[in-house]
Amino acid sequence: MSHHKRQRYFYNLGAILLTWHLQVGDTPAPALVYPTPAETLALATTQTLPATPPTPAPTKMAQLGRRLFFDPQFSSNQQVSCATCHQPEHGYTDTYPTAHGIGVGHRRTPSIAMVQHQNWFFWDGRADSLEAQALGPIEHPLEHGFSRVALVKALYHSYAQEMQDIFGPWPLTAHEIATLPAHAAPTPSPEFLPTTVATYTLASLNDFWAQDTILTQAAKRQLSPGNLVSLYSDPRPTLPPAWTQAWERIPPTQQEAIHTIALQFGKAVATFERGLHIQPGKFDRAVDTLTQPQLDSSPLNAEELHGMKVFFGPGQCHLCHSGPLFTDGQFHNIGLPRHPQSRESSLSLDVGRSMGLVLAQKATFRCSNTTHPLLDPTTETCQELAWADPNSLELVGAFKTPSLRGVSERKYFMHDGRFSHLEEVIDYYNTLEEGLSLGHREETLRPLQLTTTDKQALIQFLHTLSSPVIDSTKASQATTSLQHAPASHSNGTEQG
Ligand code: HEC
Ligand code: HEC
Repeated sequence: MSHHKRQRYFYNLGAILLTWHLQVGDTPAPALVYPTPAETLALATTQTLPATPPTPAPTKMAQLGRRLFFDPQFSSNQQVSCATCHQPEHGYTDTYPTAHGIGVGHRRTPSIAMVQHQNWFFWDGRADSLEAQALGPIEHPLEHGFSRVALVKALYHSYAQEMQDIFGPWPLTAHEIATLPAHAAPTPSPEFLPTTVATYTLASLNDFWAQDTILTQAAKRQLSPGNLVSLYSDPRPTLPPAWTQAWERIPPTQQEAIHTIALQFGKAVATFERGLHIQPGKFDRAVDTLTQPQLDSSPLNAEELHGMKVFFGPGQCHLCHSGPLFTDGQFHNIGLPRHPQSRESSLSLDVGRSMGLVLAQKATFRCSNTTHPLLDPTTETCQELAWADPNSLELVGAFKTPSLRGVSERKYFMHDGRFSHLEEVIDYYNTLEEGLSLGHREETLRPLQLTTTDKQALIQFLHTLSSPVIDSTKASQATTSLQHAPASHSNGTEQG
């Protein structure tokens, strides 16, 4: 689909969401209804889609990125690739509650379809670019279990010529690469939550057992309780000491060259990821007909239409699940109780965005680090990162609003995969059952008290948001018009 067409597509979506919002209600809307100030604000959120960059053509860079994405050699057992978890046949996510790579992680694998429209990456947004994000899983002991130096060696072994064609001469000689240790990576330096945030987190736990354990542990390890909370909240892994010691022995100029090559890997993978699009589905076809308002011919049945009204009306779901991708790209604490298993598995205090923001502001590969020309310091995200306040208590327990595109295809829900049916998600919003949670639930959420009919309809509506994901960087698919793709079109399953 051309850039122009896609713009029109998003424009239509914005327009129809607006139309629908005004029509929600028991009686048909009169010809002219002025939205209330609150509604105007809500409507604005459906129109703020970030500018759509042009579809990457099947360039050399994207082709390279695809091969890297599907290549399992960048892992300690030679079996884990990005696609192990981001599986094309499952909309670029997987079928587990939390990710399975070399080990089992603590968070669920998000879909990366349409990821180019996100500003922040990971559930806590601790990466501010796709380039920087790509290195996270490589060095995570539970994901790829690899190291930065091992990555560089493998890239040199299998992709030397291709990378040189794209990025220019290698910044390390063959001899230098051969003499590097098998594994080495910089130690992730410990980052701490602001004291007020850590104290508030501890207090908000409202669980005497947990508080007591933290205080005892902190005393034993001679840490302040706040710093211990920070360590528990840090989603980054601890690397084998031998690897980090080996890194210290590498001369700084070579360390810089290793960073550069690692970012080239990130750049190629990111270029591939930016081509992962969703095909318009039932909902989008409805939008097309609804814009000419002939409700009768809508592809949505009565139940789905009812669900749509619940979504934009009493459900108020669009306050956060806004815009064509059904996410505002922001972070919210929806007040989920701590994970039922968190008590046994010692103290997983996942504070989400609070730690994510601290990490993003301190990250080596943050956008404002101008020593790395592959990162873009001019993005809006980068400006936002500069002034975002890590002291904000609102961020404790907040996670990125997931896109609801493709949601009905997922096997598990929420950042920790705690729910396995959409019914459970809706039931949660319906009752907001209280429990021991971190931080403070956003005030906008109120128990919805929807009827069984409303809840079922809402779920049926969510089903209309699912459609196949296509890899637009593939030569055969890049020319396929999104508007006219046949329904039976391949769902983009990779052979790679
Ligand atoms: C073991 C499973 C696993 C592997 C392998 C894996 N990921 Fe992920 N991916 C995840 C999980 C889990 C998250 C969320 C982690 C978090 O929030 O801390 C994630 C998050 C992401 C995100 C952010 C999406 C968003 O909306 O914020 C992107 C992009 C991504 N991964 C790309 C990759 C790439 C590229 C690779 C290969 C270099 C890769 N992943 C390898 C499980 C995996
Ligand atoms: C205050 C913002 C907000 C509102 C309002 C809201 N959501 Fe969410 N939603 C979120 C956030 C944030 C998450 C992720 C929470 C987490 O993982 O801890 C989420 C998760 C979900 C998920 C799970 C998706 C996945 O991939 O895990 C579904 C489904 C969902 N919401 C549907 C709805 C529906 C339906 C409504 C209206 C009844 C609604 N949401 C209202 C912010 C919101």
